[in-house]
Amino acid sequence: MAMLEIEDLNAWYGASHIIHGLSLTVEQGEILALVGRNGAGKTSTIKAVMGLMPRATGRVSFCGRELLALPAHERFRLGLGYVPEERRIVPGLTVRENLQIGLVSSRAPIDEDEAIDEIAQNFPRLKERLGQQGSTMSGGEQQMLAIARAMISKPKMILLDEPSEGIMPVLVEEMGVLFRKLRDSGITLLLVEQNVEWALKLADRAVIIDQGEVVHRASAASLLANAEIQERYCAV
Ligand SMILES: Nc1ncnc2c1ncn2[C@@H]1O[C@H](COP(=O)(O)OP(=O)(O)OP(=O)(O)O)[C@@H](O)[C@H]1O
Ligand SMILES: [Mg+2]
Repeated sequence: MAMLEIEDLNAWYGASHIIHGLSLTVEQGEILALVGRNGAGKTSTIKAVMGLMPRATGRVSFCGRELLALPAHERFRLGLGYVPEERRIVPGLTVRENLQIGLVSSRAPIDEDEAIDEIAQNFPRLKERLGQQGSTMSGGEQQMLAIARAMISKPKMILLDEPSEGIMPVLVEEMGVLFRKLRDSGITLLLVEQNVEWALKLADRAVIIDQGEVVHRASAASLLANAEIQERYCAV
């Protein structure tokens, strides 16, 4: 059984039918890159998994649990982490307070100081700035904080929506190292990216979607070598 199984997913914004019978699986411990051009439905797919689309039908199961009937907060509790497209840290709260928000959705009670210490090891930049307001951090640092906030509840799987967007290259590199480390520690990642080359270098497998449907599935390495398919479905 795959960790996440999406079968015949359909999703709508009001009367707009956005996702059309999409099926994909994410295996435990892998990085799956979900790519496709602007408006292809990547964010909508992730939102449907997290319970944030106005309407979705089909079957989405996570570790054998059917998700679609559950409210969003219960999905988080099952061990799903989410880093949304627009980084959504709370600018008026400190770094530490932003991390505390992440603890609310943890599966089991977690010792706060321990959890923050652990996060600080992975994010040295955050460690120095726990008392500082979120708004004083650079865009890249805020994105790292959003990732740290998703990690602090020790999810089994994290869904990341364009984490590298608008981030300076040195932080993107750091992020890549972190994602590999997470994967190697057994955490499963679903990575939506516009930075296709970067994502494919990190990922194990890739799924391309177009107009709300899967159009291609491949190992990340073979897609990386396939300029024609990349050009056809991923060019911005
Ligand atoms: N809130 C909304 N209301 C109505 N339509 C929407 C809404 N958000 C997105 N859409 C439409 O749904 C389709 C899929 O959008 P989605 O955001 O899932 O694409 P995406 O692949 O994430 O694109 P991008 O690369 O630009 O982030 C697009 O046609 C978009 O215009
Ligand atoms: Mg998107």
